Amino acid sequence: MPLDTASCLAALAEAFPGAALFTGDDVPARNLHDTSFLPAVAPLAVVRPDSPEGVAEAVRICAEHGVPMVAQGGLTGLAGGAHPVAGCVAMSLERLAGIEEIDPAAATMTVRAGTPLEVIQKAADEAGFFIPLDLGARGSCQIGGNIGTNAGGNRVIRYGMTREMVLGLEYALPDGTLIDGLNKMLKNNAGYDLKQLFIGSEGTLGIVTRAVLRMHPKPGCVNAALCGLSSYEDVLRLLAAARRGLGPMLSAFEVMWPDYWQVVTGEVGARSPLEGTHAMYVLLEAQGLDEDIDGPRFMSWIEGAFEAGIIADAAISQSLGDVQSFWDVRDACAEFQTVLGPHCAFDIGLPQTRMNEFADACRARLKEDMPEALSVYYGHIGDGNLHIVALDRAQAQPPMKRISAVVYDTVRDFGGTISAEHGIGLLKKPYLSYTRSEKELALMARIKAALDPQGLLNPGKVIDTPATGKTDA
Ligand code: LAC
Ligand code: ZN
Repeated sequence: MPLDTASCLAALAEAFPGAALFTGDDVPARNLHDTSFLPAVAPLAVVRPDSPEGVAEAVRICAEHGVPMVAQGGLTGLAGGAHPVAGCVAMSLERLAGIEEIDPAAATMTVRAGTPLEVIQKAADEAGFFIPLDLGARGSCQIGGNIGTNAGGNRVIRYGMTREMVLGLEYALPDGTLIDGLNKMLKNNAGYDLKQLFIGSEGTLGIVTRAVLRMHPKPGCVNAALCGLSSYEDVLRLLAAARRGLGPMLSAFEVMWPDYWQVVTGEVGARSPLEGTHAMYVLLEAQGLDEDIDGPRFMSWIEGAFEAGIIADAAISQSLGDVQSFWDVRDACAEFQTVLGPHCAFDIGLPQTRMNEFADACRARLKEDMPEALSVYYGHIGDGNLHIVALDRAQAQPPMKRISAVVYDTVRDFGGTISAEHGIGLLKKPYLSYTRSEKELALMARIKAALDPQGLLNPGKVIDTPATGKTDA
Protein backbone atom coordinates (compact mmCIF):
# COMPACT_ATOMS: atom_id res chain seq x y z
CA MET A 1 0.00 0.00 0.00
CA PRO A 2 1.55 3.38 -0.94
CA LEU A 3 2.08 5.81 1.88
CA ASP A 4 -0.65 8.42 1.73
CA THR A 5 -0.42 10.57 4.82
CA ALA A 6 -2.74 13.43 3.89
CA SER A 7 -5.69 11.25 2.92
CA CYS A 8 -5.07 9.04 5.98
CA LEU A 9 -5.37 12.07 8.27
CA ALA A 10 -8.48 13.21 6.41
CA ALA A 11 -10.09 9.78 6.79
CA LEU A 12 -9.16 9.68 10.50
CA ALA A 13 -10.61 13.19 10.99
CA GLU A 14 -13.87 12.08 9.46
CA ALA A 15 -14.11 8.88 11.53
CA PHE A 16 -12.84 10.45 14.78
CA PRO A 17 -14.28 13.93 15.22
CA GLY A 18 -13.48 16.34 18.05
CA ALA A 19 -11.23 15.25 20.93
CA ALA A 20 -10.90 11.74 19.51
CA LEU A 21 -8.10 13.01 17.27
CA PHE A 22 -5.20 15.39 17.74
CA THR A 23 -3.00 16.43 14.83
CA GLY A 24 -0.02 18.71 14.28
CA ASP A 25 0.56 21.22 17.07
CA ASP A 26 -2.43 19.88 19.02
CA VAL A 27 -0.67 16.58 19.73
CA PRO A 28 -0.23 16.54 23.54
CA ALA A 29 3.35 16.68 24.81
CA ARG A 30 2.84 13.46 26.81
CA ASN A 31 2.40 11.46 23.59
CA LEU A 32 5.86 12.45 22.29
CA HIS A 33 7.78 9.98 24.44
CA ASP A 34 7.57 7.11 26.91
CA THR A 35 9.86 6.68 29.94
CA SER A 36 12.92 5.43 28.02
CA PHE A 37 14.80 8.79 27.83
CA LEU A 38 14.82 8.56 24.04
CA PRO A 39 14.57 11.95 22.28
CA ALA A 40 10.96 13.07 21.81
CA VAL A 41 9.32 12.28 18.46
CA ALA A 42 6.09 13.99 17.39
CA PRO A 43 3.57 11.57 15.86
CA LEU A 44 1.55 12.81 12.88
CA ALA A 45 -1.55 12.42 14.97
CA VAL A 46 -2.87 10.88 18.16
CA VAL A 47 -6.12 9.00 17.71
CA ARG A 48 -8.07 8.15 20.85
CA PRO A 49 -10.87 5.70 20.10
CA ASP A 50 -13.30 4.89 22.92
CA SER A 51 -14.40 1.44 21.76
CA PRO A 52 -12.70 -1.75 20.52
CA GLU A 53 -14.42 -1.24 17.17
CA GLY A 54 -13.01 2.30 17.09
CA VAL A 55 -9.47 0.98 17.59
CA ALA A 56 -9.98 -1.53 14.80
CA GLU A 57 -11.37 1.20 12.54
CA ALA A 58 -8.41 3.50 13.22
CA VAL A 59 -6.01 0.64 12.47
CA ARG A 60 -7.88 -0.19 9.26
CA ILE A 61 -7.69 3.41 8.06
CA CYS A 62 -3.94 3.66 8.74
CA ALA A 63 -3.29 0.26 7.13
CA GLU A 64 -5.24 1.25 4.02
CA HIS A 65 -3.03 4.29 3.63
CA GLY A 66 0.23 2.56 4.53
CA VAL A 67 0.75 4.73 7.62
CA PRO A 68 2.69 3.24 10.57
CA MET A 69 1.05 2.99 13.99
CA VAL A 70 2.31 2.92 17.57
CA ALA A 71 -0.01 1.85 20.39
CA GLN A 72 0.27 3.98 23.54
CA GLY A 73 -1.01 3.30 27.04
CA GLY A 74 0.31 4.87 30.24
CA LEU A 75 3.72 5.51 28.59
CA THR A 76 5.58 4.18 31.62
CA GLY A 77 7.62 1.66 29.61
CA LEU A 78 11.38 1.80 29.93
CA ALA A 79 12.44 0.17 26.64
CA GLY A 80 10.86 2.51 24.09
CA GLY A 81 8.06 0.10 23.12
CA ALA A 82 5.45 2.90 23.05
CA HIS A 83 7.83 5.63 21.91
CA PRO A 84 6.54 7.24 18.69
CA VAL A 85 8.38 6.58 15.43
CA ALA A 86 8.73 9.24 12.75
CA GLY A 87 5.61 9.59 10.63
CA CYS A 88 3.43 7.39 12.80
CA VAL A 89 -0.08 7.72 14.10
CA ALA A 90 -0.14 7.11 17.87
CA MET A 91 -3.06 4.91 18.92
CA SER A 92 -3.85 6.02 22.42
CA LEU A 93 -5.97 3.62 24.47
CA GLU A 94 -6.66 6.16 27.23
CA ARG A 95 -10.35 6.62 26.36
CA LEU A 96 -10.94 2.89 26.04
CA ALA A 97 -10.97 2.54 29.82
CA GLY A 98 -13.13 0.93 32.46
CA ILE A 99 -14.12 -2.38 33.96
CA GLU A 100 -16.87 -4.10 32.01
CA GLU A 101 -17.65 -7.05 34.24
CA ILE A 102 -16.65 -8.88 37.40
CA ASP A 103 -17.77 -12.51 37.40
CA PRO A 104 -17.38 -13.87 40.94
CA ALA A 105 -18.19 -17.47 40.01
CA ALA A 106 -15.56 -17.59 37.26
CA ALA A 107 -13.27 -15.27 39.33
CA THR A 108 -12.68 -13.13 36.26
CA MET A 109 -12.67 -9.44 35.46
CA THR A 110 -13.23 -8.13 31.95
CA VAL A 111 -11.40 -4.86 31.37
CA ARG A 112 -10.79 -2.35 28.63
CA ALA A 113 -7.17 -1.93 27.56
CA GLY A 114 -6.77 1.67 28.74
CA THR A 115 -7.75 0.95 32.36
CA PRO A 116 -4.98 1.90 34.82
CA LEU A 117 -3.62 -1.09 36.75
CA GLU A 118 -4.39 0.49 40.12
CA VAL A 119 -8.07 0.91 39.19
CA ILE A 120 -8.17 -2.81 38.40
CA GLN A 121 -6.43 -3.74 41.68
CA LYS A 122 -8.90 -1.64 43.69
CA ALA A 123 -11.96 -2.99 41.90
CA ALA A 124 -10.81 -6.55 42.57
CA ASP A 125 -10.22 -5.70 46.22
CA GLU A 126 -13.69 -4.18 46.61
CA ALA A 127 -15.19 -7.34 45.12
CA GLY A 128 -13.27 -9.50 47.63
CA PHE A 129 -10.67 -10.66 45.12
CA PHE A 130 -7.02 -10.00 44.38
CA ILE A 131 -5.19 -9.06 41.18
CA PRO A 132 -1.58 -10.08 41.81
CA LEU A 133 0.00 -7.97 39.06
CA ASP A 134 1.78 -5.11 40.81
CA LEU A 135 4.56 -2.74 39.83
CA GLY A 136 5.83 0.71 40.76
CA ALA A 137 3.98 2.44 37.90
CA ARG A 138 0.62 0.98 39.04
CA GLY A 139 -1.02 4.42 39.20
CA SER A 140 -0.32 5.38 35.59
CA CYS A 141 0.41 2.21 33.62
CA GLN A 142 -2.51 0.68 31.73
CA ILE A 143 -3.47 -2.98 31.53
CA GLY A 144 -3.13 -3.00 27.73
CA GLY A 145 0.52 -2.02 28.10
CA ASN A 146 1.02 -4.53 30.90
CA ILE A 147 -0.31 -7.22 28.59
CA GLY A 148 1.61 -5.92 25.57
CA THR A 149 4.86 -6.21 27.51
CA ASN A 150 3.92 -9.29 29.58
CA ALA A 151 4.83 -7.18 32.61
CA GLY A 152 6.51 -8.85 35.56
CA GLY A 153 6.58 -6.87 38.78
CA ASN A 154 6.68 -7.70 42.44
CA ARG A 155 4.71 -10.95 42.87
CA VAL A 156 5.91 -13.09 39.98
CA ILE A 157 7.52 -15.55 42.38
CA ARG A 158 4.05 -16.65 43.49
CA TYR A 159 1.67 -15.78 40.66
CA GLY A 160 3.78 -15.64 37.50
CA MET A 161 3.96 -12.91 34.88
CA THR A 162 1.03 -11.08 33.27
CA ARG A 163 0.66 -13.96 30.81
CA GLU A 164 -0.49 -16.19 33.68
CA MET A 165 -3.28 -13.76 34.54
CA VAL A 166 -4.83 -13.37 31.09
CA LEU A 167 -7.58 -15.85 30.28
CA GLY A 168 -9.01 -14.08 27.28
CA LEU A 169 -7.99 -11.32 24.91
CA GLU A 170 -9.52 -9.13 22.24
CA TYR A 171 -7.20 -7.36 19.81
CA ALA A 172 -7.06 -5.55 16.50
CA LEU A 173 -4.83 -7.14 13.86
CA PRO A 174 -2.58 -4.91 11.72
CA ASP A 175 -5.21 -4.84 8.95
CA GLY A 176 -7.95 -3.71 11.33
CA THR A 177 -9.63 -7.08 11.90
CA LEU A 178 -10.96 -7.26 15.46
CA ILE A 179 -10.51 -10.70 17.04
CA ASP A 180 -12.74 -11.47 20.01
CA GLY A 181 -10.99 -14.06 22.14
CA LEU A 182 -12.58 -13.03 25.44
CA ASN A 183 -12.42 -16.53 26.91
CA LYS A 184 -13.21 -16.91 30.63
CA MET A 185 -12.33 -20.54 31.10
CA LEU A 186 -9.17 -21.63 32.84
CA LYS A 187 -8.97 -24.59 30.48
CA ASN A 188 -9.38 -24.09 26.76
CA ASN A 189 -7.22 -26.31 24.60
CA ALA A 190 -9.06 -25.75 21.34
CA GLY A 191 -6.16 -25.36 18.94
CA TYR A 192 -3.49 -22.67 19.06
CA ASP A 193 -3.58 -20.40 22.10
CA LEU A 194 -3.57 -17.31 19.90
CA LYS A 195 -3.66 -14.75 22.70
CA GLN A 196 -0.12 -15.75 23.71
CA LEU A 197 1.18 -14.21 20.47
CA PHE A 198 -0.20 -10.83 21.48
CA ILE A 199 0.94 -10.96 25.11
CA GLY A 200 4.50 -9.67 25.34
CA SER A 201 4.89 -8.83 21.63
CA GLU A 202 4.83 -5.10 22.47
CA GLY A 203 2.15 -4.04 20.00
CA THR A 204 4.10 -5.33 17.00
CA LEU A 205 1.51 -7.98 16.04
CA GLY A 206 -1.76 -6.44 17.18
CA ILE A 207 -3.28 -3.89 19.54
CA VAL A 208 -4.97 -5.23 22.66
CA THR A 209 -8.46 -3.77 23.19
CA ARG A 210 -9.99 -5.83 26.01
CA ALA A 211 -8.93 -8.65 28.31
CA VAL A 212 -10.39 -11.19 30.69
CA LEU A 213 -8.19 -11.32 33.78
CA ARG A 214 -8.00 -14.15 36.25
CA MET A 215 -8.63 -12.98 39.81
CA HIS A 216 -7.31 -14.71 42.91
CA PRO A 217 -8.77 -14.91 46.41
CA LYS A 218 -7.87 -11.91 48.52
CA PRO A 219 -5.07 -12.90 50.93
CA GLY A 220 -6.32 -13.19 54.51
CA CYS A 221 -3.12 -11.70 55.92
CA VAL A 222 0.22 -10.32 54.78
CA ASN A 223 3.51 -10.44 56.66
CA ALA A 224 6.80 -8.97 55.56
CA ALA A 225 10.35 -8.58 56.75
CA LEU A 226 13.11 -6.28 55.66
CA CYS A 227 16.36 -8.10 56.35
CA GLY A 228 20.01 -7.16 56.47
CA LEU A 229 22.39 -9.96 55.49
CA SER A 230 26.14 -10.43 55.66
CA SER A 231 26.76 -11.84 52.19
CA TYR A 232 25.16 -12.77 48.87
CA GLU A 233 25.58 -16.44 49.84
CA ASP A 234 23.23 -15.73 52.72
CA VAL A 235 20.71 -14.26 50.24
CA LEU A 236 20.70 -17.60 48.42
CA ARG A 237 20.37 -19.49 51.72
CA LEU A 238 17.45 -17.24 52.71
CA LEU A 239 15.72 -17.79 49.36
CA ALA A 240 16.04 -21.55 49.73
CA ALA A 241 14.82 -21.37 53.34
CA ALA A 242 11.86 -19.17 52.34
CA ARG A 243 10.82 -21.49 49.55
CA ARG A 244 11.00 -24.44 51.92
CA GLY A 245 9.61 -22.82 55.05
CA LEU A 246 6.93 -20.51 53.60
CA GLY A 247 6.04 -22.62 50.59
CA PRO A 248 3.31 -21.11 48.42
CA MET A 249 2.85 -18.22 50.89
CA LEU A 250 6.09 -16.60 49.67
CA SER A 251 4.80 -13.72 47.53
CA ALA A 252 7.88 -11.53 47.04
CA PHE A 253 11.64 -11.87 47.40
CA GLU A 254 13.27 -8.57 46.51
CA VAL A 255 16.98 -7.95 46.90
CA MET A 256 18.82 -4.64 47.16
CA TRP A 257 22.58 -4.16 46.94
CA PRO A 258 24.29 -1.56 49.19
CA ASP A 259 24.74 0.92 46.29
CA TYR A 260 20.96 0.92 45.79
CA TRP A 261 20.34 1.18 49.52
CA GLN A 262 22.69 4.13 49.79
CA VAL A 263 20.87 6.10 47.07
CA VAL A 264 17.32 5.38 48.31
CA THR A 265 18.03 6.01 51.97
CA GLY A 266 20.35 8.92 51.13
CA GLU A 267 19.45 11.10 48.15
CA VAL A 268 15.87 9.78 47.84
CA GLY A 269 15.28 10.02 51.60
CA ALA A 270 13.47 6.69 52.16
CA ARG A 271 13.36 5.72 55.83
CA SER A 272 15.38 2.62 56.66
CA PRO A 273 13.78 0.43 59.31
CA LEU A 274 17.17 -1.20 59.93
CA GLU A 275 20.05 0.14 61.95
CA GLY A 276 23.51 0.21 60.47
CA THR A 277 24.58 -1.06 57.08
CA HIS A 278 24.68 -4.54 55.64
CA ALA A 279 26.27 -6.38 52.74
CA MET A 280 22.82 -7.17 51.27
CA TYR A 281 19.17 -6.28 51.91
CA VAL A 282 16.14 -8.49 51.30
CA LEU A 283 12.46 -7.59 51.39
CA LEU A 284 10.38 -10.70 51.65
CA GLU A 285 6.64 -10.97 51.85
CA ALA A 286 4.30 -13.84 52.66
CA GLN A 287 0.57 -13.85 51.97
CA GLY A 288 -1.41 -16.18 54.22
CA LEU A 289 -5.00 -17.10 54.95
CA ASP A 290 -5.38 -16.38 58.63
CA GLU A 291 -3.25 -14.01 60.73
CA ASP A 292 -3.77 -16.10 63.90
CA ILE A 293 -2.11 -19.06 62.24
CA ASP A 294 0.12 -17.58 59.54
CA GLY A 295 1.41 -14.61 61.60
CA PRO A 296 3.05 -16.84 64.25
CA ARG A 297 4.18 -19.24 61.54
CA PHE A 298 5.98 -16.39 59.73
CA MET A 299 7.52 -15.22 63.00
CA SER A 300 8.83 -18.64 63.90
CA TRP A 301 10.24 -19.10 60.41
CA ILE A 302 12.10 -15.77 60.66
CA GLU A 303 13.41 -16.75 64.10
CA GLY A 304 14.69 -19.97 62.60
CA ALA A 305 16.55 -18.00 59.92
CA PHE A 306 18.12 -15.85 62.66
CA GLU A 307 19.16 -18.88 64.66
CA ALA A 308 20.66 -20.49 61.58
CA GLY A 309 22.76 -17.33 61.13
CA ILE A 310 21.24 -16.50 57.73
CA ILE A 311 19.86 -13.09 58.74
CA ALA A 312 22.02 -10.48 60.49
CA ASP A 313 19.18 -8.07 61.30
CA ALA A 314 15.52 -7.74 60.37
CA ALA A 315 12.55 -5.45 60.78
CA ILE A 316 9.37 -7.54 60.95
CA SER A 317 6.00 -6.08 60.09
CA GLN A 318 3.49 -5.62 62.91
CA SER A 319 0.83 -4.08 60.70
CA LEU A 320 -0.12 -3.51 57.09
CA GLY A 321 1.34 -0.02 57.52
CA ASP A 322 4.72 -1.62 58.26
CA VAL A 323 4.41 -3.84 55.18
CA GLN A 324 3.74 -0.71 53.12
CA SER A 325 6.68 1.15 54.64
CA PHE A 326 9.02 -1.73 53.72
CA TRP A 327 7.71 -1.59 50.16
CA ASP A 328 8.29 2.18 50.16
CA VAL A 329 12.04 1.50 50.35
CA ARG A 330 11.80 -0.85 47.38
CA ASP A 331 9.47 1.46 45.41
CA ALA A 332 11.76 4.45 46.06
CA CYS A 333 13.50 3.66 42.77
CA ALA A 334 10.60 5.56 41.18
CA GLU A 335 12.44 8.70 42.35
CA PHE A 336 15.65 7.87 40.48
CA GLN A 337 14.66 10.09 37.60
CA THR A 338 14.39 13.06 39.94
CA VAL A 339 17.46 12.46 42.08
CA LEU A 340 19.84 10.88 39.58
CA GLY A 341 18.58 12.52 36.39
CA PRO A 342 18.53 10.76 33.02
CA HIS A 343 19.88 7.24 33.30
CA CYS A 344 19.83 3.82 31.66
CA ALA A 345 17.56 1.23 33.28
CA PHE A 346 18.04 -2.50 32.78
CA ASP A 347 15.99 -5.59 33.60
CA ILE A 348 18.36 -8.41 32.87
CA GLY A 349 17.82 -12.04 33.86
CA LEU A 350 20.36 -14.53 35.21
CA PRO A 351 20.46 -17.67 37.29
CA GLN A 352 20.49 -16.63 40.96
CA THR A 353 23.83 -18.27 41.67
CA ARG A 354 25.72 -15.88 39.38
CA MET A 355 23.87 -12.67 40.22
CA ASN A 356 26.37 -11.12 42.63
CA GLU A 357 29.34 -12.13 40.53
CA PHE A 358 27.57 -10.42 37.60
CA ALA A 359 26.93 -7.25 39.61
CA ASP A 360 30.62 -7.08 40.60
CA ALA A 361 31.77 -7.63 37.01
CA CYS A 362 29.29 -5.14 35.54
CA ARG A 363 30.13 -2.43 38.07
CA ALA A 364 33.87 -2.91 37.47
CA ARG A 365 33.55 -2.91 33.67
CA LEU A 366 31.44 0.25 33.69
CA LYS A 367 34.00 1.98 35.92
CA GLU A 368 36.81 0.84 33.71
CA ASP A 369 35.11 2.36 30.67
CA MET A 370 33.76 5.46 32.46
CA PRO A 371 35.60 6.30 35.71
CA GLU A 372 32.66 8.42 36.91
CA ALA A 373 30.10 5.69 36.23
CA LEU A 374 27.48 5.09 38.89
CA SER A 375 25.54 1.84 38.78
CA VAL A 376 23.12 0.49 41.37
CA TYR A 377 21.72 -3.04 41.61
CA TYR A 378 18.40 -4.38 42.89
CA GLY A 379 15.56 -6.55 41.72
CA HIS A 380 13.27 -9.51 41.84
CA ILE A 381 16.00 -11.97 42.65
CA GLY A 382 13.48 -14.68 43.51
CA ASP A 383 12.62 -14.60 39.79
CA GLY A 384 16.24 -14.39 38.58
CA ASN A 385 15.62 -10.78 37.50
CA LEU A 386 18.15 -8.05 38.27
CA HIS A 387 17.64 -4.32 37.73
CA ILE A 388 20.56 -2.01 37.05
CA VAL A 389 20.33 1.75 36.93
CA ALA A 390 23.45 3.28 35.41
CA LEU A 391 24.77 6.66 34.38
CA ASP A 392 28.04 8.50 33.89
CA ARG A 393 28.34 11.31 36.39
CA ALA A 394 30.77 13.06 34.02
CA GLN A 395 27.99 13.51 31.41
CA ALA A 396 24.58 15.18 31.75
CA GLN A 397 23.04 12.80 29.24
CA PRO A 398 23.85 9.13 29.83
CA PRO A 399 25.81 7.58 26.94
CA MET A 400 23.07 5.00 26.36
CA LYS A 401 24.83 2.96 23.69
CA ARG A 402 28.12 2.82 25.56
CA ILE A 403 26.51 1.81 28.84
CA SER A 404 24.23 -0.71 27.11
CA ALA A 405 27.17 -2.27 25.28
CA VAL A 406 29.04 -2.87 28.55
CA VAL A 407 25.98 -4.24 30.37
CA TYR A 408 24.80 -6.51 27.55
CA ASP A 409 28.29 -7.81 26.77
CA THR A 410 28.50 -8.81 30.42
CA VAL A 411 25.03 -10.40 30.25
CA ARG A 412 26.16 -12.40 27.23
CA ASP A 413 29.31 -13.51 29.00
CA PHE A 414 27.19 -14.74 31.90
CA GLY A 415 24.61 -16.46 29.68
CA GLY A 416 21.65 -14.33 30.81
CA THR A 417 18.73 -12.61 29.11
CA ILE A 418 18.80 -8.95 28.05
CA SER A 419 15.19 -8.53 29.19
CA ALA A 420 13.43 -10.33 32.01
CA GLU A 421 10.35 -8.12 32.23
CA HIS A 422 10.42 -4.73 30.46
CA GLY A 423 10.60 -5.99 26.88
CA ILE A 424 12.78 -5.12 23.89
CA GLY A 425 11.19 -1.99 22.42
CA LEU A 426 13.71 0.16 20.59
CA LEU A 427 16.48 0.23 23.16
CA LYS A 428 17.28 -3.47 23.30
CA LYS A 429 16.57 -4.40 19.69
CA PRO A 430 20.25 -4.27 18.62
CA TYR A 431 21.03 -6.82 21.33
CA LEU A 432 18.20 -9.32 20.81
CA SER A 433 20.63 -11.78 19.23
CA TYR A 434 22.56 -11.90 22.52
CA THR A 435 19.66 -13.83 24.01
CA ARG A 436 17.81 -15.43 21.07
CA SER A 437 19.37 -17.74 18.48
CA GLU A 438 19.41 -17.00 14.75
CA LYS A 439 16.72 -19.61 14.22
CA GLU A 440 14.52 -18.08 16.91
CA LEU A 441 14.95 -14.61 15.37
CA ALA A 442 14.07 -15.98 11.93
CA LEU A 443 10.92 -17.58 13.36
CA MET A 444 9.95 -14.29 15.04
CA ALA A 445 10.41 -12.52 11.69
CA ARG A 446 8.19 -15.12 9.96
CA ILE A 447 5.43 -14.55 12.52
CA LYS A 448 5.78 -10.78 12.16
CA ALA A 449 5.64 -11.04 8.35
CA ALA A 450 2.58 -13.32 8.48
CA LEU A 451 0.60 -10.95 10.68
CA ASP A 452 1.97 -7.59 9.60
CA PRO A 453 3.26 -7.96 6.02
CA GLN A 454 3.39 -4.18 5.52
CA GLY A 455 5.43 -3.72 8.70
CA LEU A 456 3.10 -0.97 9.93
CA LEU A 457 2.58 -1.94 13.55
CA ASN A 458 5.20 -0.48 15.89
CA PRO A 459 7.90 -0.57 13.17
CA GLY A 460 11.51 -0.72 14.26
CA LYS A 461 10.56 -2.37 17.58
CA VAL A 462 11.42 -5.93 18.67
CA ILE A 463 11.68 -7.54 15.18
CA ASP A 464 11.29 -6.26 11.60
CA THR A 465 8.98 -7.47 8.87
CA PRO A 466 11.74 -8.87 6.61
CA ALA A 467 10.61 -7.46 3.25
CA THR A 468 10.10 -3.90 4.48
CA GLY A 469 13.57 -3.57 5.97
CA LYS A 470 12.21 -0.92 8.33
CA THR A 471 14.84 -0.81 10.99
CA ASP A 472 15.13 2.71 12.27
CA ALA A 473 12.70 4.85 14.10
C1 LAC B 1 11.08 -2.31 39.21
C2 LAC B 1 10.82 -1.88 37.81
C3 LAC B 1 11.87 -0.97 37.30
O1 LAC B 1 11.03 -3.47 39.50
O2 LAC B 1 10.67 -3.00 36.99
O3 LAC B 1 11.34 -1.41 40.04
ZN1 ZN C 1 11.05 -4.84 38.01
